[in-house]
Amino acid sequence: MNLASVIRSEERLLLPTYDRHKILFEKGRGVYLWDSRGNRYLDFLSGIGVNALGHAHPAIQTTLKRQAGQLIHVSNLFFHEYQAELAKRLTAISGLNRAFFCNSGTEAWEGALKLARIYARTKNTNGHKPKWRILALDNSFHGRTFGSLATTGQAKYRDPFVPLLPGVGFVRFNDVDDLKHQFDAGVCAICIETIQGEGGVCPVSPEFLQMARQLTGDRDALLILDEIQCGLGRTGNYFAYQHYGVQPDIVTIAKPLAAGLPLGAILMTNRVASSMNPGMHGTTFGGGPLACAVAIEFLRVLEELLDHVREVGGYFRRQLEKLKTRHECIREIRGMGLMLGVELNSSDVSKAVVSTLLQNRILINRTHETVLRFLPPYIIREKHVDEVIRALDSALTSNATKRRRALVHAIGRAHKQTLKESK
Ligand SMILES: Cc1ncc(COP(=O)(O)O)c(C=O)c1O
Repeated sequence: MNLASVIRSEERLLLPTYDRHKILFEKGRGVYLWDSRGNRYLDFLSGIGVNALGHAHPAIQTTLKRQAGQLIHVSNLFFHEYQAELAKRLTAISGLNRAFFCNSGTEAWEGALKLARIYARTKNTNGHKPKWRILALDNSFHGRTFGSLATTGQAKYRDPFVPLLPGVGFVRFNDVDDLKHQFDAGVCAICIETIQGEGGVCPVSPEFLQMARQLTGDRDALLILDEIQCGLGRTGNYFAYQHYGVQPDIVTIAKPLAAGLPLGAILMTNRVASSMNPGMHGTTFGGGPLACAVAIEFLRVLEELLDHVREVGGYFRRQLEKLKTRHECIREIRGMGLMLGVELNSSDVSKAVVSTLLQNRILINRTHETVLRFLPPYIIREKHVDEVIRALDSALTSNATKRRRALVHAIGRAHKQTLKESK
């Protein structure tokens, strides 16, 4: 099948939810992808943070093949050997006590919201009305299902689908006073992405996160961290919150967990877990043996890569900072480890840069209009960073030249017009 016929079929047959680049990928190996014409692309997006080990990692292939021949699915009405083993590893690295497995980020987030509500209900048994309000942050993103949408602090995602879950308030990002002002005895949870991804690669400030921990701790409300994009090694620690020395009550993870297979998880304390009983939550596919076996292998490989993520992430950041000194249009470099964002001063420029890089066969994307986002696989080397930096440098230079020329033309035209009018 060629690209044109795939596009024609999709236009006729699919719900039109994606604005895809016109590339048909057929194969991936390591940090590279190949399209149907045999062109090779350097992947600095890794499926929006999913292919953290790159493509076709040998250890993942081996586990997949072995487990696919053994047992792919078994209902959650029965046991298999991998859920508890995976939970053991995830709780060890997170400092939390229990796990629930599901299929995606948004599903993990929905479960976390249900936990917040049921926790408040079961722990407030002394005749008080259970607290039920949830505080989330401006600019956040937690997914596309209704609870996730309701807690997503960006109107463009929420507005078409109102009315949503009631009781959600939005706090200004990193505004400690606003957080203190909005937090009251009716709040059952504060929800935070430790680093906002879709919101433009914006790390929460230590002061804000510490205040959220203190407020929730003092009033037996929950601190819920969404680490679906920034967790599982992306920042060079297992979890981004480990850079802050703050321990949450609940963490949600997904994207790279099963190296490309759909798997999400909610991690929580024993105290939170004690508010749910059998039948209150569940899923058909979540935590199947194939995905869990692969996730265990992912965590094994990840352990060997954490130092590398910190080192190559540091190198990448230093090169981006140098680039900033050469290009006025770069406003800020943000992020940690291998989750980096470059904020430009115009959405036209960021769009042009992404498309120029694509022409140079380098995959990145932009988020929040003006931010170039880099989520490369953890296995990249400095030479790959250098290639991306060279491409960015030349894209930004040629863009600046084009803009200068356009400006000179516009000034010239305006000058001629003034002369004409003054005659
Ligand atoms: C921080 C965050 N939370 C939740 C989600 C939703 O995850 P999923 O697309 O797997 O439902 C995403 C997806 O980009 C995300 O970045």
